[in-house]
Formats: sequence, structure tokens, C-alpha cells
Amino acid sequence: MAGISELVKRVAVDKYHRDRDMLIQILLDLQSGLGWLPAEVMAEVSRQLRVPIARVYQVASFYKAFTFSPRGRHTVTVCLGTACQVRGAPRLLDRTTDKLKLAPGETSADMRFSLDTVNCLGCCALGPVIVIDGKYHSKPSTSELEHLFDAAK
Ligand code: FES
Repeated sequence: MAGISELVKRVAVDKYHRDRDMLIQILLDLQSGLGWLPAEVMAEVSRQLRVPIARVYQVASFYKAFTFSPRGRHTVTVCLGTACQVRGAPRLLDRTTDKLKLAPGETSADMRFSLDTVNCLGCCALGPVIVIDGKYHSKPSTSELEHLFDAAK
């Protein structure tokens, strides 16, 4: 695919000069532009960097930041770390899955929301915490949660 090939060339060759040590940064740049990492992109990175495809997937799979399927316009993350768990994270997740009609790891058919969970966001005292499009919300009530989701068009 010429478009993918050219896109990967601009990042892997023109910007990072085929430096294999920059593989993570190359994948980050590509994902930032595309929103996810299609199989064609992974194969093209492998080809242009001359790194085995298994190695490219191994590196990308290690980091939760990388995704291999299209993501919704809005990302929703519920923390299920221990501190959030004891402060009501399971109920927060239940309310979220009920409202969005999504399970963790899923993206809505209309591509509006993607839902994920994490094990700690580093702000345990605020728990339970939900992050919507990078913005942290502490202990949202049911009505606040509904308002936040409704506002995300
Ligand atoms: S456990 Fe949720 S922020 Fe740490």
C-alpha cells in the first residue's frame, strides 16, 4: 500500500534515519498520526527498519500505550488499582459499562467511546478515578458521570 509505505518512510527513514533503537518512538509517532497501529503499518515498519516483524510486535505489545485496533473518538479509563478498588471502583466500572454499553477493551460501533481499565494512575487518594480524554475525575456521582459521557459527542 503506497500511502502506508510513504507514511512509514517519512517517520522511520526521514525523521529517525532507520535507527532501530528508535523503534518505540517510531511506533508512537505513527500511532499518534493514525490513532492505532494497523497490521500493514507494523509490516512496513519491520520492512523499512529491517527488524523482524515478531520483534516489532513484541515491543509494541509490551506497552499498553499501543493499540492494534481502531479506537473511539473518546477514551475512557477506569482505574481498578487496589486503592480505587476499596473506594468503589467496581461500582464505578459497572456504572460506566452500563451507560456506555461496553466492556473493558471494547470500542463502540459508532466509534464514539473506547473503554479500558488500568491498575493505578498514581493518584490513589482521589479514588475511585475515571479518566475521560486525559482528564481525571475523582469519585464522580452517577449524574456527573452521565453528564460527562453526554458531553463527549
Ligand atoms: S489505585 Fe487508582 S489511582 Fe492508584
